[in-house]
This record gives sequence, C-alpha cells and structure tokens, in this order.
Amino acid sequence: MKFYIETVGCQMNALDSELAAAELMAAGWERLDSRKDADLIIFNTCSVREHAEEKIYSALGRLKHWRTQKPGSLVCVMGCMAQKDKDVVFQRAPYVDVVVGPGKIDQLVALVEAAAATGTPQIAVGVDRFEQKADRQTIKESFRLYDPIRLPQARQRTFQAMVRIMFGCDKLCSYCVVPSVRGPEQSRSPKEILDEVKTLADQGCVEVTLLGQTVNSYRYRENGKTTRLADLLAMIDGVSGIRRVRFVSSYPTDMTDELLQAVRDLPSAMPYLHVPAQHGANSTLKRMRRHYTVEQYRELVDRIYETIPGAAITSDFIVGFSGETEDEFLQTVDLVRYARFKNSFIFKYSVRPGNEASRIYVDDVPEEVKKRRNNELLAVQNEISAELNKSFLGREVEILVEGPSKRESRSVAQEETLYAECEQTETPSEQPTTPEGITSVGELLATAAPNGTVQLTGRTECDRIVVFNGPREMAGTFQRVRVVDTAPFTLFGELL
Ligand code: 5AD
Repeated sequence: MKFYIETVGCQMNALDSELAAAELMAAGWERLDSRKDADLIIFNTCSVREHAEEKIYSALGRLKHWRTQKPGSLVCVMGCMAQKDKDVVFQRAPYVDVVVGPGKIDQLVALVEAAAATGTPQIAVGVDRFEQKADRQTIKESFRLYDPIRLPQARQRTFQAMVRIMFGCDKLCSYCVVPSVRGPEQSRSPKEILDEVKTLADQGCVEVTLLGQTVNSYRYRENGKTTRLADLLAMIDGVSGIRRVRFVSSYPTDMTDELLQAVRDLPSAMPYLHVPAQHGANSTLKRMRRHYTVEQYRELVDRIYETIPGAAITSDFIVGFSGETEDEFLQTVDLVRYARFKNSFIFKYSVRPGNEASRIYVDDVPEEVKKRRNNELLAVQNEISAELNKSFLGREVEILVEGPSKRESRSVAQEETLYAECEQTETPSEQPTTPEGITSVGELLATAAPNGTVQLTGRTECDRIVVFNGPREMAGTFQRVRVVDTAPFTLFGELL
C-alpha cells in the first residue's frame, strides 16, 4: 500500500507530516512523491487563515471522483483543520475516511487500518478546550504527548531534522486559532528531547531545529529543578555530531538574557532568531493581546544585536487587523525600519471564528487596504533585506550545503520558508541586481554549472540562503564560500 502526504502550514506541520510518514512506513506503507498511484492521500492542513482552509476544501472536492471510483482508496484529513472542523469535514466531503487532529498522530495507522477494514469513517481529535467541560488534565492528555519514531528515510534530508520540544500554546493572542487546535501548552521532558536528538545524531543528522509555538517559553519542572530553553541548548551542544541548532518561534517577552547569552556562547547555537512582533503600535498590540509594548520589543531588538554579534532577526506581521488605522499601520512600518529584520513574513488579517477577536472586534479593514498595506510593508522589508545581504558581498561564510537549488530540483522549494504553501508574502523570487561583470542575477543563474557540478544551495549560520556551483555529493557537508553577488533573499557564492 502506498501513501502520499500533502502539507500546508508551518514547520510544526512539516514535522507532523514527517512523523506521520514514519509511523506509516514503520507499519509497511510506502511513501510516494506524488498523488499518482497512491492508495491513501493525506492532507496535513492549516487553520491559521481562512485561505489555507478553502484551498484544502477545494483540493478535497477534486478528489471526490478518484476516491469514489478507485476501489480501496482512502482519504485522510490530518492537522489543525481536522481538529477545528471535525465533523464539518465529513459534511463537506462525505467520502473522507479519516479525520485526525494534531494531537493524535500516534493513532494514524490504527485509524487508517480501521477505515480500510470496516469501510466506516474514523475520527480522533483532542478535547475542545474552549467548548467542552473538561478539566485541564483531561484536555492536555487528549492532545497526547508521544515519543515519535524517527526514520531518516521519512525526512527530506537525512542531515537536517526538526525536534518538537513543546506542544500547544497558552498565549491566547486574540487573532489566533492555535491554542484551540493544538491544545494547551505542554513541554516535553529534557530526557526525551535529548534522547531524540542523540538518535538523530546517530542517523547522521548535523543540524536540528527545535520547534514550539512559543519555543522560548519552554519550561520543564522535575525534582525541584526547572529546565529552560537555554539549559536545553547547552545539553544539545554536548551531543556529538550536532553542529547547528536553531529554535522557532520565539515569543518576545520570553527572550531572557540567559537565552541570548547561550546563543552567543554555545558553538552549536546559531545566531538566528525568529521573534514575531506582529505589530508596531501599542494600541493594536493590546487588541491583539500580545503582552508587550513596541518600546519593549525595540529594547529586545537592541539587546539581541548587542549580545549576539551578527545575529539575524526575523519576524511575522499581521496587517489590517480589526480597527487598524493608517497611523497604527505606519508604526509597524517604523518598527520594520528600526529592527532591520533579515526578512519578515507578512499576513493579511483573517478572522478565525471562535476566538476573542472574532467575538469582540469587527473585521473592518477593507481587503484593498489590507492588500496595499501588505505590499507597502513588504517593499520596506525587501529594501532592508537587500541592504543587509549587500553587506555580505566579498565575505567568506560557512554554509551547510542542502542540495540542488530550485532550478535543479523543484522539491527543495517548499522548505525554503518557515511557512510552506501559505498565503504569506515573503517572496523567495529575486529582483535582479547588477553585479560587476554580470548584467543580472538572472544571467548568473542562467550560466551553466561547469562539468560535474550542479547549482547547489546552502545556509549560513544566520540562515541566509547561498546559491553556488558544486558537486551534487556535497549535500550535507559544511563548506566555505565567498559571496560574489547578492539579492534580497539570496547570496551567490563561489566555493573556496
Ligand atoms: N490572520 C492572519 N494572520 C495570522 N497569523 C496568525 N493568526 C492569523 C490570522 N487570524 C499569522 C501570525 C503568526 C503566523 C504564523 O500567522 O503572524 O505569527
């Protein structure tokens, strides 16, 4: 039996897809790269904006014929939309066989097998923390913490892996659906995390990205001792084989000095911090229920640059949130100029039924205004990204080679942003610049790679993408390159 998983959404979802694939592969299923020839098609879904959900419903609609005509075929809806929409999925697409929430991935194989054996739809989701009357422990347990199977062949690249350190979220930002679809915040035990990292290192993994909805809120209490993210980083730094560690996403007020110092001092901790600001006006931050002021955020930016030399900071922003005035929006523009983010992911506000913002505010910013603000903010950010990248010209950097570039292989494209296939506007497409001797980046890209080499991409310590020519077998190794050209989202290099 063969399966295919289609993933949208954040890195959490990318990891869930990998873990689900590992569960299925361990049970004897074969993974395919396309829907063709699949017996089971799984959609790993996102609910953070309406657009992401509508895309899935139309994809499900297109599968109706396939599912009803092909004997033995199965359709599974997994992830945040499965948790949020539950029975709605069966109403809108009655031929769906399995609905499984993000807290129930360990049950996926059993559910698929039960659906195949009985022909009846299967559903497993967590307890709705805002609707059902249940105590916190019951709710927590319904978003099961589990020790996942890690299979190198389930990963896109064996030498890079994500490791979940926390489940759920308790920040309750007014616009956000995550606390309801991923359940209450729960940290995994340091031992379990460390064992998983060691397993990955044994499998040849050299880079790990620690994941949590608010990853720097990590806190695990045991025998009177509390472990925080800085402690975890120190423990992982001691795992032989692991040379790079990143963590996403951070919540601004949980960015302690200890954590910044750990990033500065630990050789494996990379100077890259994704700390979504979401907005630049105090009035809006208050409506969003972000628990900081823009002054505090600016102070954090100062502290990061002072503590960690060469640090790259990235952010998320929402434009057109309920009640956002032009003046409030311009304060976001000011913050982007001040913070000099490496890049920002910018989203137009999308009402999510059931949360606080949907109950108490009106979605009153017209779509055209959201679009215009989105484009304006993006233009400012792109200018900064281009300037920052230009400062790398002529410099030598160490990169972890990831593999053939998009031109060589379409499959790497998906992973180049934090949010796969999302309606966000951090455009990876490049605006040609005019480097010396070459008329455009397009021309540079079009230049054929010399014999025996292909166009490869790698990442610097601060998470900048470098494109260069080299042998395919270099994937997974560390190399030094000199930057010979730059664009807003890419550096172009030569192997040293
Ligand atoms: N509308 C638009 N963007 C949102 N995000 C979260 N909720 C919404 C929403 N309702 C954005 C935030 C978050 C990112 C993953 O998605 O910027 O950091």
